Amino acid sequence: LVYPQTIVLKLPASDQASPIWIGRGALSSLAELADLQKYSKVVIVGDSGAEAIISALAERIDCSKSRKLIIPGGEICKSIENLTELWGFFTDNKLDRKSLVIGVGGGALTDLAGFAAATYMRGIAFIPVPSTLLAQVDAGIGGKSGINFGGVKNLIGAIAQPVGILIDVDTLNELPARDLRSGFAEIVKHGLIADQEYFKTVTSRAYSDWGRDELAEIVHRSCEIKVAAVENDPYELGSRRALNFGHTLGHAIESCSHRTTSPTTHGEAVAIGMVAACFISVRMGLISSVQEKLCVEGIARAGLPTKLPCYLEPVELIEAMTLDKKSVSGVSRWTLLTDIGAAVVDQEVPATIVLDAISLVQAK
Ligand SMILES: NC(=O)c1ccc[n+]([C@@H]2O[C@H](COP(=O)([O-])OP(=O)(O)OC[C@H]3O[C@@H](n4cnc5c(N)ncnc54)[C@H](O)[C@@H]3O)[C@@H](O)[C@H]2O)c1
Ligand SMILES: [Zn+2]
Repeated sequence: LVYPQTIVLKLPASDQASPIWIGRGALSSLAELADLQKYSKVVIVGDSGAEAIISALAERIDCSKSRKLIIPGGEICKSIENLTELWGFFTDNKLDRKSLVIGVGGGALTDLAGFAAATYMRGIAFIPVPSTLLAQVDAGIGGKSGINFGGVKNLIGAIAQPVGILIDVDTLNELPARDLRSGFAEIVKHGLIADQEYFKTVTSRAYSDWGRDELAEIVHRSCEIKVAAVENDPYELGSRRALNFGHTLGHAIESCSHRTTSPTTHGEAVAIGMVAACFISVRMGLISSVQEKLCVEGIARAGLPTKLPCYLEPVELIEAMTLDKKSVSGVSRWTLLTDIGAAVVDQEVPATIVLDAISLVQAK
């Protein structure tokens, strides 16, 4: 494939379409791809972890029109204080309804900047430039944005589609291996829920063994899968929840492990959550144990964890699952597999089976 490639995310019953420009080096063409001339003002909100990328971008964009604000990235940035700071930055720069905000960074930064843009003047144009693998295949696409509040993740947020999304795999050159691995879990998830051949490909070797050109193709395919899920169900009323595969237990592992000395990344927790969900899929009579074995072997071959890094109390994990905002009336709902490459959402699973799944992934 010749890059940049463009995938268009088109919502049903709307004339809105968000192009996703993907490819190595695509960042240098942002001004032309996004036709930045048409905006009254352009500002950049950037993640300090991606500072070199932001400086390069700021130089290419007409400086008389652009301003940049760089804040420390990571989960901590999704705060009400930063939201206020961004709104202040927008008013200081006299942004109006025809202005554009470009958010460059990890998923946390693009969630924050996207929410600030979605709420300023009831919503102005936004372009995320995700600079972690997780953000490129997941957080940057789909229009969900938000901040954490009162200790609850993503409690305040919005769904608003960006006017475009720019994904340049070359921005990942300095990304720590552990962050690369975290994003790769979502890629493996895309194969498991939507495309058996893709699952075989992305689990044929370790996540760290892919070259940049190969990674560009992988990111491209993952974006197609995420786009299809969003187009079919933009407000997550049903089928989009297939993307939650591995996340019911994954989110619980993520939050519980953060209270221990071995916190997991989001992707590591999701990988372990996927192992549990494959096991549950067998117990619910949806896939065979041969299929389960292929899934778990693939997850391991991709270099992802299949067991918890330390012992976590099952009761604590179950409590975290029922507190999750995706659970309905305290009952956790699972996305399960009906095949390698096909998922079913909203499955209620008996507590005994959930407990068995937890003991399966417990550190021995
Ligand atoms: N909106 C959605 O649909 C959606 C989906 C999935 C996840 N998310 C959110 O995404 C966030 C996680 O995103 P993440 O995994 O990208 O983590 P992150 O945003 O926390 O970033 C991880 C670290 O990488 C640094 N970083 C960013 N770009 C870099 C680069 N190019 N090189 C080196 N370091 C870089 C950041 O400064 C940060 O320290 C969570 O807040 C999650 O809720 C949102
Ligand atoms: Zn995820």
